[in-house]
Amino acid sequence: MSEALDTYEPERAVPDYDAEYPIRIRGLTNAFGDFVVHDRLDLDVRRGEILGVVGGSGTGKSVLMRAIIGLQIPREGSIEVFGRNITNAEPDEVIGVRNHWGVLFQGGALFSTLTVAENVQVPLKQFYPDLDQVLLDEIARYKTVLSGLPPEAASKYPSELSGGMKKRAGLARALALDPQLLFLDEPTAGLDPIGAAKFDELTRDLTDTLGLTVFLITHDLDTLYAICDRVAVLADKKVIAVGTIPELLETDHPWIQEYFNGPRSRAAQASRERSRAKDADVASAMDKTGDSGA
Ligand SMILES: Nc1ncnc2c1ncn2[C@@H]1O[C@H](COP(=O)(O)OP(=O)(O)OP(=O)(O)O)[C@@H](O)[C@H]1O
Ligand SMILES: [Mg+2]
Repeated sequence: MSEALDTYEPERAVPDYDAEYPIRIRGLTNAFGDFVVHDRLDLDVRRGEILGVVGGSGTGKSVLMRAIIGLQIPREGSIEVFGRNITNAEPDEVIGVRNHWGVLFQGGALFSTLTVAENVQVPLKQFYPDLDQVLLDEIARYKTVLSGLPPEAASKYPSELSGGMKKRAGLARALALDPQLLFLDEPTAGLDPIGAAKFDELTRDLTDTLGLTVFLITHDLDTLYAICDRVAVLADKKVIAVGTIPELLETDHPWIQEYFNGPRSRAAQASRERSRAKDADVASAMDKTGDSGA
C-alpha cells in the first residue's frame, strides 16, 4: 500500500462530535504586534465537563476563547475542535463545526434593536435560511424558556431587561443551534449573588440534561466551587495547571495559592460546604419520609 493511502484518514474529513476531547490546543501562540498574549499554550477540554478558566485580568482568557471559535488568528500552533483542526481550515470547512457551538460573550452582546426572540433567531437564520417564521418563533420561544426566562420575555428588547435577564437571553441565543459546546465568558459578572447562583444552577442543569461541554471563563469563586468539574489556570502566557480545585491547591504556584487560599476563596468553599450539608440533610429527610411511607 502506498504511503499516501496508509495515512489517509477519511473519518478526519467530518468532525468527530464524540471525541473524548472536543477541544485540543497545542503550542498556541497569540500576539498583537510585539505583545505576546499566549506563548505555546496547551489545553485539552474533556467531553461533558464544565471547565472553569481563570487567570488575572488581561492574561488572555477572552483571547483564548476567541481563538478557539476562530475570531482570533493564532500566530502559531493548532486548535482542534471535534477533531477538526480549525486553525488551518478554510472558512467553509469550519461551518460544520461552528454550528455545534454556542457563545455567550463577555458583556452579553445582544443586538439592542432586536427583541429577545429575534436575537435567538439570528444564528438560526444564518445557518438555516430556509426555516419558516412560525418554526423560528417556536424555537426562539422554547430557547427563551429553557434559559429560565418567562415566555413573554421573548418579545422584549434588551433595554427592557434586567442584567440577569440579559444574561439569560444571551444564553438562549447561545443555545439556538442546539450546540454540543458552550462558551461562556464571565456569565455571572455583574449579577447579585442570588442571581449568580441561579445562573450557575441553570448552567449545570443544562450541561447535564443537554450533554454539553462548557468552556467557562470566570472570576467568580462561587461558580468555580459550585459547578466546575475542573479548572484551568492561565498565567505566564500559558495554561500553568488544569485540575480539580484540591488538585490545584497541591501545586505551589504563587498565583494559584493566593487565588485559592485567599479569604474570598475560603469563604466560597465554606458556603459550598454549607449548601452541600443542607442538600444532604434534605436528601436524608426525604429518604426517611420514603421509608416510613413504605
Ligand atoms: N484586539 C486586540 N488588540 C490588541 N490587544 C488586544 C486585543 N484584544 C486583547 N488584547 C490584549 O490581550 C490581552 C488579553 O486580553 P483578554 O481580553 O483576553 O484578557 P482577559 O484575560 O479576558 O481579561 P479580563 O479578565 O479583564 O476579561 C490584554 O492585554 C489585552 O489588552
Ligand atoms: Mg475577558
